[in-house]
Amino acid sequence: MHRKHVQWIELSAEALKHNISQFRSLLGKERRLLAMVKANAYGHGMIPIANAAVNSGSDWLGIHSVDEGITLRENGFKCPLLSVGYIPLHRLQQAVENDIRITVYNNETIEKLGDICRSLHKKAYLHIKAETGTYRQGLNESEIIPFIENIERHEGLVIEGISSHFSNIEDTTDHSYAQYQLKRFKKIVDRIENHGISIPFKHMACSAAVILFPETYFNMARVGIGLYGLWPSNEVYVSSLLRNRHEFSLKPVLSWKARIAQVKHIPKGEFIGYGCTYKTTRRTVLAVIPVGYYDGYSRGLSNVSYVLIKGSRAPVRGRVAMNFIAVDITDIPGVKVEDRVTLLGGEGGDSISADKLAALTGTINYEITARINQDIPRVMT
Ligand SMILES: Cc1ncc(COP(=O)(O)O)c(C=O)c1O
Repeated sequence: MHRKHVQWIELSAEALKHNISQFRSLLGKERRLLAMVKANAYGHGMIPIANAAVNSGSDWLGIHSVDEGITLRENGFKCPLLSVGYIPLHRLQQAVENDIRITVYNNETIEKLGDICRSLHKKAYLHIKAETGTYRQGLNESEIIPFIENIERHEGLVIEGISSHFSNIEDTTDHSYAQYQLKRFKKIVDRIENHGISIPFKHMACSAAVILFPETYFNMARVGIGLYGLWPSNEVYVSSLLRNRHEFSLKPVLSWKARIAQVKHIPKGEFIGYGCTYKTTRRTVLAVIPVGYYDGYSRGLSNVSYVLIKGSRAPVRGRVAMNFIAVDITDIPGVKVEDRVTLLGGEGGDSISADKLAALTGTINYEITARINQDIPRVMT
């Protein structure tokens, strides 16, 4: 089917299954595994990934927006959906109607949800976000009990979970801040339980936490980047080896392919692309590829990255444009129009990884895949 496309994303169901089984073997059978499919499944394609994730044993799906949840429901997903984002007050009714579990941390949200549940005669399942030092979403320890008491005033509101999120578990091999956050979370959980309130789900672990720290598991983990076969960071990889997690392995799920639009021969001393940033140093053969920064191929990759053609590296020459790049194929004989190019992924024993593209552009692998344009066709292999 991808023969028709000028560019497409290939997704490996086998790799996704492998990654999920790796996390499952750490978490055990009983704990819930929530697959983070927000942000178009980190750019991979939400529907095909959600399908493969559920078929491979994910129990819950994690989303950001109501629209993501509605799309999943419209595509027949029946499993629990948890929004970890902010749902604006005027979209809360749709969240309740679509059985989307909601992360809560504002009394305004609670008041509105109380009204909605009363008028719909429906229950809303809430996960309270505890602030443990990330300072993104959440309530401080002293605010939690009054917040719970406020929720309990509304008949239709069910407190189903308490959660928090690590801020410094990926960027370092010193995990003292993560330990401190875990301690704060446990203190909040104890405080709630000492108040005689029992909350079914407690969750804090992301991919890095599952890989490194069993004490963060509680009874549910929210796993994102690792499902896609990408390490949360080099530091997490090193830390995992230091913890003797040698048997834990991940397989990248995504490859990005395109077809060549033109092959052209250029004399020595010619400039290529906007801004004349590259000047040929020899007679050069160029392949023009109809992919650019609009598609998520960062302009920061101008003159620094490479693609794979027939298993060989073809360096990007000149600026990445909105819809095109040019690569040097002088040393790769026999390349023709519509030959296949790998922009991200493996080919012929070589590869260009999301980590590599991230290093070249000063960002993280999460951003590399999340920014791939959602209109590019996704093909599950
Ligand atoms: C609240 C929350 N939980 C879990 C995750 C998953 O993290 P990771 O992709 O590192 O596994 C994210 C990702 O951004 C998140 O925002």
